[in-house]
Amino acid sequence: MAINNWYKDKVFYQIWPRSFKDGNGDGMGDLYGVYEKLDYIKSLGCDGIWFSPLYPSPGVDCGYDISDYYNIAEEFGGMDAFRKVLDGAHERGMKVIMDLVVNHTSDQHEWFQKSRQRIDPYTDYYIWRPAKKNGKLPNNWDSLFEGKAWAWDEVRQEYYMHLFAIQQADLNMDNPLVREEVKNILRFWLDMGVDGFREDVITFISKKDGLPDDYIMPASKGFLYFNHGPHLHEYLEEFKRDVFSKYDCMILAEAPMVTPKKALEYITEDNNPVLDMMIQFSTQEADCLFTDFNHVPFNLRKLKRAFSKWQTKLEGKGWNMLYLENHDHPRMVSRYGSEKFRDESAKTLAVSYLFQKGTPFVYQGQEIGMSNWYPTDPEMYEDVQTRWQYFNVGTKKSPEKRLQRLWHGSRDSARTPVQWSNEENAGFSTGTPWFYVNENYKDVNVAAQEEDEKSVLNFYRKAIALRKNLSSVKNGNYKEYGKNSKSFYTYSREDENEKLLVVCSFVGKTKAWKAPRGFDLLNAELLLCNYAMSNRATLAPYECRVYCWKK
Ligand code: NOJ
Repeated sequence: MAINNWYKDKVFYQIWPRSFKDGNGDGMGDLYGVYEKLDYIKSLGCDGIWFSPLYPSPGVDCGYDISDYYNIAEEFGGMDAFRKVLDGAHERGMKVIMDLVVNHTSDQHEWFQKSRQRIDPYTDYYIWRPAKKNGKLPNNWDSLFEGKAWAWDEVRQEYYMHLFAIQQADLNMDNPLVREEVKNILRFWLDMGVDGFREDVITFISKKDGLPDDYIMPASKGFLYFNHGPHLHEYLEEFKRDVFSKYDCMILAEAPMVTPKKALEYITEDNNPVLDMMIQFSTQEADCLFTDFNHVPFNLRKLKRAFSKWQTKLEGKGWNMLYLENHDHPRMVSRYGSEKFRDESAKTLAVSYLFQKGTPFVYQGQEIGMSNWYPTDPEMYEDVQTRWQYFNVGTKKSPEKRLQRLWHGSRDSARTPVQWSNEENAGFSTGTPWFYVNENYKDVNVAAQEEDEKSVLNFYRKAIALRKNLSSVKNGNYKEYGKNSKSFYTYSREDENEKLLVVCSFVGKTKAWKAPRGFDLLNAELLLCNYAMSNRATLAPYECRVYCWKK
Protein backbone atom coordinates (compact mmCIF):
# COMPACT_ATOMS: atom_id res chain seq x y z
CA MET A 1 0.00 0.00 0.00
CA ALA A 2 1.03 3.61 -0.33
CA ILE A 3 4.23 4.36 1.56
CA ASN A 4 3.87 7.52 3.68
CA ASN A 5 0.38 7.92 2.28
CA TRP A 6 1.63 9.95 -0.68
CA TYR A 7 -1.90 10.12 -2.09
CA LYS A 8 -2.87 12.56 0.67
CA ASP A 9 -0.97 15.32 -1.13
CA LYS A 10 -2.34 14.60 -4.58
CA VAL A 11 -5.14 15.91 -6.73
CA PHE A 12 -6.29 13.34 -9.27
CA TYR A 13 -7.74 13.84 -12.73
CA GLN A 14 -10.04 11.14 -14.09
CA ILE A 15 -9.79 10.23 -17.75
CA TRP A 16 -12.63 8.38 -19.45
CA PRO A 17 -10.53 7.45 -22.47
CA ARG A 18 -13.10 7.28 -25.28
CA SER A 19 -14.03 10.94 -24.89
CA PHE A 20 -10.90 12.66 -23.65
CA LYS A 21 -8.89 13.44 -26.80
CA ASP A 22 -8.47 11.69 -30.11
CA GLY A 23 -4.83 11.81 -31.20
CA ASN A 24 -4.96 9.80 -34.42
CA GLY A 25 -8.12 11.10 -36.06
CA ASP A 26 -10.19 7.92 -35.95
CA GLY A 27 -12.93 9.54 -33.86
CA MET A 28 -12.12 7.64 -30.66
CA GLY A 29 -10.27 9.19 -27.74
CA ASP A 30 -6.92 7.50 -27.21
CA LEU A 31 -3.58 7.51 -25.42
CA TYR A 32 -1.94 9.62 -28.13
CA GLY A 33 -4.44 12.28 -27.19
CA VAL A 34 -3.68 11.81 -23.51
CA TYR A 35 0.04 12.17 -24.18
CA GLU A 36 -0.59 15.49 -25.94
CA LYS A 37 -2.53 16.71 -22.92
CA LEU A 38 -0.28 15.62 -20.05
CA ASP A 39 1.04 19.14 -19.61
CA TYR A 40 -2.50 20.47 -19.62
CA ILE A 41 -3.48 18.11 -16.81
CA LYS A 42 -0.37 19.05 -14.90
CA SER A 43 -1.16 22.74 -15.45
CA LEU A 44 -4.37 22.27 -13.50
CA GLY A 45 -2.29 21.31 -10.49
CA CYS A 46 -3.34 17.68 -10.86
CA ASP A 47 -0.57 15.24 -10.13
CA GLY A 48 -2.36 11.95 -10.47
CA ILE A 49 -4.44 10.31 -13.19
CA TRP A 50 -7.12 7.66 -12.85
CA PHE A 51 -7.78 5.89 -16.12
CA SER A 52 -11.18 4.33 -16.63
CA PRO A 53 -10.55 0.96 -18.34
CA LEU A 54 -8.09 0.92 -21.22
CA TYR A 55 -8.10 -2.85 -21.73
CA PRO A 56 -9.42 -4.73 -24.78
CA SER A 57 -13.19 -4.95 -24.52
CA PRO A 58 -16.19 -5.54 -26.77
CA GLY A 59 -17.46 -2.21 -25.41
CA VAL A 60 -20.89 -3.27 -24.19
CA ASP A 61 -20.27 -1.17 -21.07
CA CYS A 62 -17.66 1.15 -22.61
CA GLY A 63 -14.67 -0.83 -21.37
CA TYR A 64 -16.05 -2.12 -18.05
CA ASP A 65 -16.55 -5.45 -19.84
CA ILE A 66 -12.96 -6.62 -20.14
CA SER A 67 -11.88 -9.40 -22.48
CA ASP A 68 -8.11 -9.28 -21.77
CA TYR A 69 -6.61 -7.97 -18.54
CA TYR A 70 -3.04 -8.03 -19.81
CA ASN A 71 -3.24 -5.62 -22.67
CA ILE A 72 -4.26 -2.13 -23.75
CA ALA A 73 -6.94 -1.89 -26.44
CA GLU A 74 -5.65 -1.18 -29.95
CA GLU A 75 -8.23 1.59 -30.31
CA PHE A 76 -6.50 3.42 -27.46
CA GLY A 77 -3.03 2.90 -28.99
CA GLY A 78 -2.01 -0.42 -27.48
CA MET A 79 0.72 -1.12 -24.97
CA ASP A 80 3.39 1.09 -26.56
CA ALA A 81 1.20 4.16 -26.31
CA PHE A 82 0.37 3.27 -22.71
CA ARG A 83 4.03 2.89 -21.72
CA LYS A 84 4.76 6.27 -23.25
CA VAL A 85 1.95 7.90 -21.28
CA LEU A 86 3.01 6.16 -18.08
CA ASP A 87 6.60 7.37 -18.48
CA GLY A 88 5.43 10.82 -19.52
CA ALA A 89 3.26 11.08 -16.41
CA HIS A 90 6.03 9.86 -14.13
CA GLU A 91 8.53 12.31 -15.66
CA ARG A 92 6.10 15.06 -14.68
CA GLY A 93 5.79 13.77 -11.12
CA MET A 94 2.31 12.41 -11.71
CA LYS A 95 1.00 9.08 -10.45
CA VAL A 96 -1.13 6.80 -12.61
CA ILE A 97 -3.82 4.45 -11.37
CA MET A 98 -5.72 1.91 -13.42
CA ASP A 99 -9.28 0.69 -13.15
CA LEU A 100 -9.45 -2.85 -11.82
CA VAL A 101 -12.70 -4.50 -12.89
CA VAL A 102 -12.85 -7.97 -11.38
CA ASN A 103 -16.40 -8.33 -10.13
CA HIS A 104 -17.12 -9.45 -13.69
CA THR A 105 -15.52 -10.02 -17.08
CA SER A 106 -16.86 -9.73 -20.59
CA ASP A 107 -18.62 -12.86 -21.83
CA GLN A 108 -16.04 -12.75 -24.63
CA HIS A 109 -13.19 -13.31 -22.18
CA GLU A 110 -11.39 -16.59 -22.75
CA TRP A 111 -12.20 -17.67 -19.19
CA PHE A 112 -15.92 -17.37 -19.85
CA GLN A 113 -15.70 -19.08 -23.20
CA LYS A 114 -13.96 -22.04 -21.56
CA SER A 115 -16.15 -21.99 -18.48
CA ARG A 116 -19.33 -22.31 -20.52
CA GLN A 117 -17.82 -25.45 -22.07
CA ARG A 118 -16.80 -26.76 -18.64
CA ILE A 119 -13.13 -26.78 -19.61
CA ASP A 120 -10.98 -26.96 -16.50
CA PRO A 121 -9.65 -25.10 -14.62
CA TYR A 122 -12.25 -22.56 -15.78
CA THR A 123 -15.39 -24.56 -15.03
CA ASP A 124 -16.09 -22.75 -11.74
CA TYR A 125 -14.68 -19.33 -12.62
CA TYR A 126 -18.20 -17.85 -12.82
CA ILE A 127 -21.40 -18.11 -10.83
CA TRP A 128 -23.32 -20.85 -12.65
CA ARG A 129 -26.56 -22.38 -11.44
CA PRO A 130 -28.99 -24.83 -12.98
CA ALA A 131 -32.53 -23.67 -13.65
CA LYS A 132 -35.01 -24.26 -10.86
CA LYS A 133 -38.17 -26.26 -11.52
CA ASN A 134 -39.94 -25.25 -14.74
CA GLY A 135 -36.89 -23.36 -15.94
CA LYS A 136 -37.18 -20.73 -13.17
CA LEU A 137 -34.27 -18.45 -12.31
CA PRO A 138 -31.89 -19.55 -9.52
CA ASN A 139 -33.00 -16.61 -7.35
CA ASN A 140 -34.91 -13.31 -7.54
CA TRP A 141 -31.96 -10.89 -7.63
CA ASP A 142 -32.01 -7.94 -10.00
CA SER A 143 -29.28 -6.76 -12.31
CA LEU A 144 -28.38 -3.10 -11.80
CA PHE A 145 -28.45 -2.56 -15.55
CA GLU A 146 -30.90 -4.84 -17.29
CA GLY A 147 -33.64 -7.00 -15.87
CA LYS A 148 -32.89 -9.97 -13.68
CA ALA A 149 -29.38 -10.91 -12.58
CA TRP A 150 -29.35 -14.21 -14.50
CA ALA A 151 -28.86 -15.13 -18.16
CA TRP A 152 -29.32 -18.55 -19.68
CA ASP A 153 -26.33 -20.01 -21.50
CA GLU A 154 -27.25 -22.38 -24.31
CA VAL A 155 -23.81 -23.98 -24.40
CA ARG A 156 -23.59 -24.91 -20.76
CA GLN A 157 -27.34 -25.25 -20.24
CA GLU A 158 -27.14 -23.25 -17.03
CA TYR A 159 -27.75 -19.73 -15.81
CA TYR A 160 -24.86 -17.38 -15.03
CA MET A 161 -25.05 -14.35 -12.79
CA HIS A 162 -24.64 -10.84 -14.18
CA LEU A 163 -25.12 -7.97 -11.74
CA PHE A 164 -24.59 -5.54 -14.62
CA ALA A 165 -25.12 -6.02 -18.39
CA ILE A 166 -25.93 -9.48 -19.73
CA GLN A 167 -22.48 -9.61 -21.33
CA GLN A 168 -20.77 -8.88 -17.97
CA ALA A 169 -20.60 -12.24 -16.21
CA ASP A 170 -19.85 -12.18 -12.49
CA LEU A 171 -16.69 -13.97 -11.45
CA ASN A 172 -16.83 -16.55 -8.70
CA MET A 173 -14.43 -14.93 -6.26
CA ASP A 174 -14.96 -17.78 -3.79
CA ASN A 175 -12.86 -19.90 -6.13
CA PRO A 176 -9.21 -19.56 -5.01
CA LEU A 177 -8.07 -19.92 -8.64
CA VAL A 178 -9.99 -16.76 -9.54
CA ARG A 179 -8.33 -14.88 -6.70
CA GLU A 180 -4.94 -16.06 -7.98
CA GLU A 181 -5.86 -14.67 -11.40
CA VAL A 182 -6.72 -11.32 -9.81
CA LYS A 183 -3.41 -11.23 -7.99
CA ASN A 184 -1.51 -11.99 -11.18
CA ILE A 185 -3.27 -9.14 -12.93
CA LEU A 186 -2.38 -6.78 -10.09
CA ARG A 187 1.28 -7.84 -10.14
CA PHE A 188 1.49 -7.44 -13.91
CA TRP A 189 0.46 -3.76 -13.84
CA LEU A 190 2.28 -2.91 -10.65
CA ASP A 191 5.48 -4.45 -12.04
CA MET A 192 5.04 -2.27 -15.09
CA GLY A 193 5.06 0.76 -12.82
CA VAL A 194 1.45 1.79 -12.31
CA ASP A 195 0.84 3.39 -8.93
CA GLY A 196 -2.37 1.76 -7.85
CA PHE A 197 -5.94 0.91 -8.69
CA ARG A 198 -9.47 2.17 -8.52
CA GLU A 199 -11.34 -1.03 -7.81
CA ASP A 200 -14.66 -1.22 -9.64
CA VAL A 201 -17.65 -2.24 -7.45
CA ILE A 202 -15.22 -4.23 -5.33
CA THR A 203 -17.75 -4.42 -2.49
CA PHE A 204 -19.82 -6.78 -4.70
CA ILE A 205 -17.24 -9.55 -5.10
CA SER A 206 -18.45 -11.79 -2.28
CA LYS A 207 -22.03 -13.00 -2.59
CA LYS A 208 -24.03 -14.36 0.34
CA ASP A 209 -23.58 -18.10 0.69
CA GLY A 210 -26.41 -20.07 -0.87
CA LEU A 211 -27.54 -17.05 -2.95
CA PRO A 212 -30.88 -16.80 -1.13
CA ASP A 213 -33.95 -15.01 -2.51
CA ASP A 214 -34.24 -11.44 -1.30
CA TYR A 215 -37.55 -10.53 0.35
CA ILE A 216 -36.26 -7.33 1.97
CA MET A 217 -35.41 -4.91 -0.85
CA PRO A 218 -38.44 -3.80 -2.89
CA ALA A 219 -36.26 -2.78 -5.84
CA SER A 220 -32.73 -3.86 -6.67
CA LYS A 221 -33.31 -7.23 -5.09
CA GLY A 222 -30.20 -9.00 -3.87
CA PHE A 223 -28.29 -5.79 -3.15
CA LEU A 224 -28.05 -6.55 0.55
CA TYR A 225 -26.76 -10.02 -0.27
CA PHE A 226 -24.00 -9.08 -2.66
CA ASN A 227 -22.84 -5.74 -1.25
CA HIS A 228 -20.28 -6.18 1.56
CA GLY A 229 -20.75 -9.94 1.41
CA PRO A 230 -19.39 -12.40 3.97
CA HIS A 231 -15.88 -12.84 2.55
CA LEU A 232 -15.19 -9.37 1.24
CA HIS A 233 -12.82 -8.32 4.00
CA GLU A 234 -11.00 -11.63 3.85
CA TYR A 235 -10.43 -11.35 0.07
CA LEU A 236 -9.25 -7.76 0.32
CA GLU A 237 -6.88 -8.81 3.08
CA GLU A 238 -5.55 -11.56 0.87
CA PHE A 239 -4.94 -9.12 -2.02
CA LYS A 240 -3.11 -6.86 0.38
CA ARG A 241 -1.06 -9.62 1.99
CA ASP A 242 0.00 -11.24 -1.27
CA VAL A 243 0.34 -8.20 -3.51
CA PHE A 244 -0.32 -4.65 -2.31
CA SER A 245 1.89 -4.90 0.77
CA LYS A 246 4.84 -5.50 -1.54
CA TYR A 247 4.36 -2.34 -3.62
CA ASP A 248 4.12 1.39 -3.02
CA CYS A 249 0.61 1.69 -4.42
CA MET A 250 -2.69 3.35 -3.65
CA ILE A 251 -5.94 1.41 -3.49
CA LEU A 252 -9.23 3.20 -3.94
CA ALA A 253 -12.41 1.14 -3.74
CA GLU A 254 -15.72 1.96 -5.32
CA ALA A 255 -18.37 1.29 -2.66
CA PRO A 256 -22.03 1.93 -3.50
CA MET A 257 -24.23 2.73 -0.45
CA VAL A 258 -21.27 2.59 1.93
CA THR A 259 -21.61 4.39 5.27
CA PRO A 260 -18.66 5.97 7.11
CA LYS A 261 -18.95 3.30 9.79
CA LYS A 262 -18.70 0.52 7.23
CA ALA A 263 -15.88 2.29 5.37
CA LEU A 264 -13.86 2.45 8.56
CA GLU A 265 -13.84 -1.34 8.71
CA TYR A 266 -11.59 -1.21 5.65
CA ILE A 267 -9.68 2.07 5.86
CA THR A 268 -8.98 2.78 9.53
CA GLU A 269 -5.36 3.81 9.38
CA ASP A 270 -4.08 2.35 12.64
CA ASN A 271 -5.93 -0.91 12.19
CA ASN A 272 -4.12 -2.65 9.34
CA PRO A 273 -6.28 -1.12 6.59
CA VAL A 274 -6.99 -3.20 3.49
CA LEU A 275 -7.79 -0.13 1.39
CA ASP A 276 -6.56 3.46 1.30
CA MET A 277 -9.82 5.18 0.40
CA MET A 278 -13.37 4.42 -0.60
CA ILE A 279 -15.64 6.09 -3.14
CA GLN A 280 -18.86 6.88 -1.28
CA PHE A 281 -22.11 7.70 -3.10
CA SER A 282 -24.01 9.78 -0.56
CA THR A 283 -22.86 13.10 -2.04
CA GLN A 284 -24.45 11.95 -5.33
CA GLU A 285 -27.89 11.59 -3.80
CA ALA A 286 -28.98 15.19 -3.21
CA ASP A 287 -31.28 15.26 -6.26
CA CYS A 288 -32.38 11.67 -6.68
CA LEU A 289 -33.57 8.58 -4.86
CA PHE A 290 -31.36 5.50 -5.04
CA THR A 291 -30.41 6.05 -8.72
CA ASP A 292 -29.92 9.15 -10.86
CA PHE A 293 -33.00 8.22 -12.89
CA ASN A 294 -35.34 8.86 -9.94
CA HIS A 295 -34.91 12.58 -10.04
CA VAL A 296 -36.17 14.89 -7.26
CA PRO A 297 -35.44 18.61 -6.77
CA PHE A 298 -31.94 19.36 -5.55
CA ASN A 299 -31.76 19.52 -1.77
CA LEU A 300 -28.75 21.45 -0.50
CA ARG A 301 -29.26 20.31 3.06
CA LYS A 302 -29.01 16.72 1.97
CA LEU A 303 -25.75 17.45 0.18
CA LYS A 304 -24.36 19.30 3.19
CA ARG A 305 -25.31 16.47 5.52
CA ALA A 306 -23.47 14.03 3.25
CA PHE A 307 -20.38 16.24 3.02
CA SER A 308 -20.21 16.82 6.76
CA LYS A 309 -20.97 13.25 7.71
CA TRP A 310 -17.94 12.01 5.78
CA GLN A 311 -15.72 14.84 6.96
CA THR A 312 -16.47 14.36 10.64
CA LYS A 313 -16.89 10.61 10.92
CA LEU A 314 -13.57 9.84 9.24
CA GLU A 315 -11.71 12.55 11.15
CA GLY A 316 -8.50 11.20 12.66
CA LYS A 317 -9.30 7.65 11.53
CA GLY A 318 -9.47 7.32 7.78
CA TRP A 319 -8.95 9.39 4.64
CA ASN A 320 -11.66 10.74 2.35
CA MET A 321 -11.76 10.56 -1.41
CA LEU A 322 -13.44 13.78 -2.58
CA TYR A 323 -15.32 14.09 -5.83
CA LEU A 324 -18.36 15.62 -7.45
CA GLU A 325 -18.27 14.14 -10.94
CA ASN A 326 -17.25 10.97 -12.68
CA HIS A 327 -18.30 8.98 -15.75
CA ASP A 328 -21.31 7.46 -13.96
CA HIS A 329 -23.39 10.56 -13.25
CA PRO A 330 -24.74 13.55 -15.16
CA ARG A 331 -22.85 16.83 -14.92
CA MET A 332 -22.92 18.74 -11.64
CA VAL A 333 -23.53 22.19 -13.08
CA SER A 334 -26.84 20.84 -14.39
CA ARG A 335 -27.64 18.88 -11.25
CA TYR A 336 -26.59 20.87 -8.18
CA GLY A 337 -25.66 24.13 -9.90
CA SER A 338 -27.41 26.12 -12.60
CA GLU A 339 -27.06 26.19 -16.36
CA LYS A 340 -28.19 29.82 -16.28
CA PHE A 341 -25.35 30.62 -13.87
CA ARG A 342 -23.06 28.02 -15.41
CA ASP A 343 -19.84 29.90 -14.79
CA GLU A 344 -20.65 30.97 -11.23
CA SER A 345 -22.12 27.66 -10.15
CA ALA A 346 -19.25 25.62 -11.63
CA LYS A 347 -16.93 27.66 -9.43
CA THR A 348 -19.03 27.42 -6.29
CA LEU A 349 -19.22 23.66 -6.79
CA ALA A 350 -15.43 23.54 -7.09
CA VAL A 351 -14.96 25.41 -3.84
CA SER A 352 -17.62 23.37 -2.07
CA TYR A 353 -15.42 20.28 -2.16
CA LEU A 354 -11.85 21.28 -3.02
CA PHE A 355 -11.21 22.74 0.44
CA GLN A 356 -12.44 19.70 2.32
CA LYS A 357 -10.12 17.17 3.90
CA GLY A 358 -9.21 14.30 1.60
CA THR A 359 -7.86 13.62 -1.86
CA PRO A 360 -9.86 15.40 -4.57
CA PHE A 361 -10.63 13.96 -7.98
CA VAL A 362 -11.57 16.14 -10.95
CA TYR A 363 -13.40 14.49 -13.85
CA GLN A 364 -12.54 15.44 -17.43
CA GLY A 365 -14.49 18.50 -18.54
CA GLN A 366 -15.55 19.38 -14.99
CA GLU A 367 -12.72 21.93 -14.91
CA ILE A 368 -14.40 23.96 -17.67
CA GLY A 369 -17.92 23.56 -16.29
CA MET A 370 -19.27 21.18 -18.92
CA SER A 371 -23.01 20.67 -18.54
CA ASN A 372 -25.62 18.07 -19.46
CA TRP A 373 -26.47 16.91 -22.97
CA TYR A 374 -30.07 16.99 -24.24
CA PRO A 375 -30.50 14.69 -27.24
CA THR A 376 -33.85 14.78 -29.01
CA ASP A 377 -34.02 11.07 -29.76
CA PRO A 378 -33.53 8.21 -27.27
CA GLU A 379 -31.68 6.27 -29.96
CA MET A 380 -28.84 8.77 -29.62
CA TYR A 381 -27.97 7.33 -26.21
CA GLU A 382 -25.16 4.81 -26.16
CA ASP A 383 -25.07 3.67 -22.54
CA VAL A 384 -26.48 0.19 -21.86
CA GLN A 385 -28.06 1.22 -18.56
CA THR A 386 -29.70 4.33 -20.05
CA ARG A 387 -31.14 2.41 -22.97
CA TRP A 388 -32.62 -0.19 -20.66
CA GLN A 389 -34.22 2.56 -18.58
CA TYR A 390 -35.83 4.12 -21.64
CA PHE A 391 -37.06 1.01 -23.35
CA ASN A 392 -38.12 -1.01 -20.31
CA VAL A 393 -39.00 1.24 -17.39
CA GLY A 394 -42.15 3.36 -17.13
CA THR A 395 -43.09 2.53 -20.71
CA LYS A 396 -46.68 3.71 -20.18
CA LYS A 397 -45.46 7.30 -19.78
CA SER A 398 -45.28 9.59 -22.82
CA PRO A 399 -42.09 9.45 -24.92
CA GLU A 400 -41.38 13.09 -23.94
CA LYS A 401 -41.53 12.30 -20.22
CA ARG A 402 -39.35 9.27 -20.71
CA LEU A 403 -36.79 11.24 -22.66
CA GLN A 404 -36.72 13.93 -19.98
CA ARG A 405 -36.02 11.24 -17.43
CA LEU A 406 -32.87 10.39 -19.36
CA TRP A 407 -31.85 14.05 -19.55
CA HIS A 408 -31.85 14.09 -15.76
CA GLY A 409 -30.46 10.67 -15.13
CA SER A 410 -28.22 9.42 -17.91
CA ARG A 411 -24.49 9.13 -17.41
CA ASP A 412 -24.07 9.73 -21.14
CA SER A 413 -24.17 13.44 -20.24
CA ALA A 414 -20.73 12.97 -18.71
CA ARG A 415 -19.49 11.00 -21.69
CA THR A 416 -19.72 13.50 -24.53
CA PRO A 417 -16.27 14.45 -25.84
CA VAL A 418 -14.23 16.99 -23.93
CA GLN A 419 -14.66 20.41 -25.51
CA TRP A 420 -11.18 21.58 -26.37
CA SER A 421 -11.96 24.47 -28.72
CA ASN A 422 -14.68 26.05 -30.86
CA GLU A 423 -13.38 24.24 -33.94
CA GLU A 424 -15.19 21.37 -35.61
CA ASN A 425 -16.05 18.53 -33.20
CA ALA A 426 -15.01 20.81 -30.35
CA GLY A 427 -11.38 20.09 -31.26
CA PHE A 428 -11.79 16.58 -29.87
CA SER A 429 -11.13 14.79 -33.16
CA THR A 430 -10.30 15.56 -36.77
CA GLY A 431 -12.34 12.50 -37.74
CA THR A 432 -15.95 11.68 -36.97
CA PRO A 433 -16.34 11.46 -33.19
CA TRP A 434 -17.60 8.13 -31.87
CA PHE A 435 -20.22 10.04 -29.85
CA TYR A 436 -22.15 13.31 -30.01
CA VAL A 437 -20.48 16.55 -29.01
CA ASN A 438 -22.49 18.77 -26.66
CA GLU A 439 -23.86 21.65 -28.71
CA ASN A 440 -22.64 24.28 -26.29
CA TYR A 441 -18.98 23.70 -27.24
CA LYS A 442 -18.71 27.02 -29.08
CA ASP A 443 -19.24 28.80 -25.77
CA VAL A 444 -17.79 26.26 -23.38
CA ASN A 445 -14.33 25.06 -24.33
CA VAL A 446 -10.78 24.88 -23.03
CA ALA A 447 -9.20 27.20 -25.62
CA ALA A 448 -11.57 30.07 -24.83
CA GLN A 449 -11.11 29.57 -21.11
CA GLU A 450 -7.31 29.53 -21.41
CA GLU A 451 -7.56 33.09 -22.75
CA ASP A 452 -9.83 34.29 -19.99
CA GLU A 453 -8.22 34.89 -16.64
CA LYS A 454 -11.63 34.67 -14.95
CA SER A 455 -12.72 31.40 -16.53
CA VAL A 456 -13.84 28.30 -14.67
CA LEU A 457 -10.64 26.63 -15.87
CA ASN A 458 -8.38 29.27 -14.34
CA PHE A 459 -10.52 29.27 -11.22
CA TYR A 460 -9.86 25.54 -10.81
CA ARG A 461 -6.14 26.21 -11.19
CA LYS A 462 -6.27 28.86 -8.47
CA ALA A 463 -8.34 26.73 -6.12
CA ILE A 464 -6.07 23.71 -6.51
CA ALA A 465 -2.93 25.80 -6.06
CA LEU A 466 -4.38 27.32 -2.89
CA ARG A 467 -5.30 23.92 -1.55
CA LYS A 468 -1.73 22.78 -2.04
CA ASN A 469 -0.29 25.83 -0.26
CA LEU A 470 -2.52 25.88 2.78
CA SER A 471 -1.61 23.49 5.55
CA SER A 472 -5.10 23.71 7.05
CA VAL A 473 -6.66 22.21 3.92
CA LYS A 474 -4.59 19.10 4.27
CA ASN A 475 -4.74 18.61 8.00
CA GLY A 476 -6.97 21.16 9.67
CA ASN A 477 -10.23 20.50 11.48
CA TYR A 478 -13.47 20.75 9.58
CA LYS A 479 -16.52 22.47 10.99
CA GLU A 480 -19.81 23.29 9.32
CA TYR A 481 -21.94 26.39 10.06
CA GLY A 482 -25.55 27.24 9.30
CA LYS A 483 -26.52 23.62 8.75
CA ASN A 484 -30.17 24.51 8.25
CA SER A 485 -29.59 27.04 5.51
CA LYS A 486 -31.21 26.05 2.24
CA SER A 487 -29.09 28.58 0.36
CA PHE A 488 -25.53 28.48 1.68
CA TYR A 489 -22.91 25.89 2.51
CA THR A 490 -20.38 27.24 5.01
CA TYR A 491 -17.43 25.46 6.59
CA SER A 492 -14.16 26.25 8.25
CA ARG A 493 -10.79 24.54 8.24
CA GLU A 494 -8.33 25.29 10.98
CA ASP A 495 -4.86 24.23 12.08
CA GLU A 496 -2.03 25.84 14.05
CA ASN A 497 -1.10 28.12 11.14
CA GLU A 498 -4.39 29.48 9.89
CA LYS A 499 -8.12 29.42 9.83
CA LEU A 500 -10.18 29.34 6.63
CA LEU A 501 -13.81 30.13 6.09
CA VAL A 502 -15.40 28.73 2.95
CA VAL A 503 -18.82 29.90 1.90
CA CYS A 504 -20.78 28.81 -1.17
CA SER A 505 -24.15 30.05 -2.31
CA PHE A 506 -26.32 27.50 -4.08
CA VAL A 507 -29.09 29.85 -5.12
CA GLY A 508 -29.62 31.99 -8.22
CA LYS A 509 -30.37 35.26 -6.45
CA THR A 510 -28.60 37.72 -4.22
CA LYS A 511 -29.31 37.03 -0.55
CA ALA A 512 -28.39 38.54 2.78
CA TRP A 513 -25.47 36.84 4.45
CA LYS A 514 -23.61 37.16 7.72
CA ALA A 515 -20.34 35.48 8.59
CA PRO A 516 -20.66 33.00 11.45
CA ARG A 517 -19.93 34.39 14.88
CA GLY A 518 -16.20 34.70 15.65
CA PHE A 519 -15.14 35.30 12.05
CA ASP A 520 -14.03 38.91 11.74
CA LEU A 521 -14.13 39.67 8.05
CA LEU A 522 -12.43 43.03 8.51
CA ASN A 523 -9.22 41.24 9.45
CA ALA A 524 -9.48 38.44 6.92
CA GLU A 525 -7.77 38.01 3.60
CA LEU A 526 -10.14 37.05 0.78
CA LEU A 527 -8.16 34.34 -1.01
CA LEU A 528 -10.66 33.32 -3.62
CA CYS A 529 -14.00 34.55 -4.93
CA ASN A 530 -15.95 34.09 -8.16
CA TYR A 531 -17.07 37.72 -8.35
CA ALA A 532 -14.85 40.77 -8.91
CA MET A 533 -16.50 42.75 -6.13
CA SER A 534 -18.11 41.25 -3.10
CA ASN A 535 -20.39 42.77 -0.57
CA ARG A 536 -19.85 41.69 3.00
CA ALA A 537 -23.56 41.63 3.80
CA THR A 538 -24.84 39.67 0.81
CA LEU A 539 -23.91 36.79 -1.44
CA ALA A 540 -24.56 37.14 -5.18
CA PRO A 541 -26.01 34.20 -7.18
CA TYR A 542 -23.79 31.14 -6.67
CA GLU A 543 -21.09 33.31 -5.13
CA CYS A 544 -18.31 31.54 -3.30
CA ARG A 545 -15.54 32.88 -1.11
CA VAL A 546 -12.56 31.54 0.74
CA TYR A 547 -11.35 33.76 3.60
CA CYS A 548 -8.16 33.24 5.54
CA TRP A 549 -6.86 34.34 8.92
CA LYS A 550 -3.16 33.65 9.48
CA LYS A 551 -2.13 32.95 13.05
C1 NOJ B 1 -18.99 0.95 -11.94
C2 NOJ B 1 -18.39 1.71 -13.09
O1 NOJ B 1 -17.94 2.96 -12.66
C3 NOJ B 1 -19.44 1.78 -14.16
O2 NOJ B 1 -19.09 2.66 -15.20
C4 NOJ B 1 -19.69 0.39 -14.67
O3 NOJ B 1 -20.74 0.42 -15.61
C5 NOJ B 1 -20.07 -0.56 -13.53
N1 NOJ B 1 -19.25 -0.39 -12.37
C6 NOJ B 1 -19.91 -1.98 -13.99
O4 NOJ B 1 -18.56 -2.29 -14.17
